[in-house]
Amino acid sequence: MVKDKILVIGASGQIGVELTLALRKVYGNANVVASDLREENDLLKGTGPYVSLDVMNKEMLHVQVIRQNITQIYLLAAILSATGEKNPNLAWNLNMQGLLNVLDIAREEQIHKVYWPSSIAVFGPASPKINCPQQTIIEPITVYGISKYAGEFWCNYYHHRYGVDVRSLRYPGLISYKSAPGGGTTDYAIEIFHSALEEKKYTCFLKEDTYLPMMYMPDAIKATLSLMEAPQELITVRTSYNVAAISFSPKEIAAAIQQHIPDFSIAYQPDYRQTIANSWPQSIDDSTARNDWNWKPDFNLELMTADMIDNLKAPNV
Ligand code: NAD
Ligand code: SER
Repeated sequence: MVKDKILVIGASGQIGVELTLALRKVYGNANVVASDLREENDLLKGTGPYVSLDVMNKEMLHVQVIRQNITQIYLLAAILSATGEKNPNLAWNLNMQGLLNVLDIAREEQIHKVYWPSSIAVFGPASPKINCPQQTIIEPITVYGISKYAGEFWCNYYHHRYGVDVRSLRYPGLISYKSAPGGGTTDYAIEIFHSALEEKKYTCFLKEDTYLPMMYMPDAIKATLSLMEAPQELITVRTSYNVAAISFSPKEIAAAIQQHIPDFSIAYQPDYRQTIANSWPQSIDDSTARNDWNWKPDFNLELMTADMIDNLKAPNV
């Protein structure tokens, strides 16, 4: 049996760091090559191979895939919703061309599996707000959402036309303490913990009653590994799977934090990100993922809040 050798692109980012570490536990340190445009994240140093790589440079990407005998690619390099609205052309170019470069190379080199995340940002104002289904009206209003929706259909196309085993999840907002978030609308739910611990106050860029789908990073890693390990015949969705865990508002997460830090206070100063948040569903129906490959999250708001605070107080990484 050929041993899998994995390339993670965007490994120094919020998800990349934790996913690379998790993959190294499963596949062995030497078999997971981390790569990024920016320098290697401190948490990755000494845990396995790292290469500097621009996913937009298809030739160099191709060379690395051949040189390192890569058999699986996890593509995490992207520009997220809030940053994307500041530079729509850049977001479209990276999010689309990066994916097409990876899919083309996967086809040419017969890569066993590709992972590429989509997002709840594919949904728009016309999508149902509560328990938004897997298949529904999808009319995204951000360049990020448009790029993710188009990307989903490129994944579907490369699977059906060329047999590329590409799999995808529509992540909700991801909350983590190990590596910093990269410019999303849901980043408030991470900033709030740091501010609560450092200053006991936080000014939120979303209104108090803005409910959004969220997930704690250990659940996101679990979902990703489960999807990628599932037998091919169980994968019925070749665009991207809805996955869900928690839904809360800034007011609710502030109250959960106050259980641990009673003198923490929150103020609200909504900015352009409010419009983005308003366009997304408040909660997601992930029954297809639950049925197909047994998806089930472990963390609710209370468990996540306690774990975030414990780890940020006494880093244990
Ligand atoms: P991030 O911004 O933290 O990390 C992205 C990484 O990609 C960064 O380290 C960046 O340096 C790298 N990168 C950027 N341009 C590159 C290039 N040209 N070549 C190589 N690397 C490059 O993002 P993240 O939060 O880790 O997100 C990873 C993926 O998950 C993205 O596709 C994102 O859309 C998706 N996602 C994230 C969330 C979330 O809440 N974090 C939610 C839904 C979907
Ligand atoms: N967390 C991401 C964002 O806010 C959702 O894809 O952009």
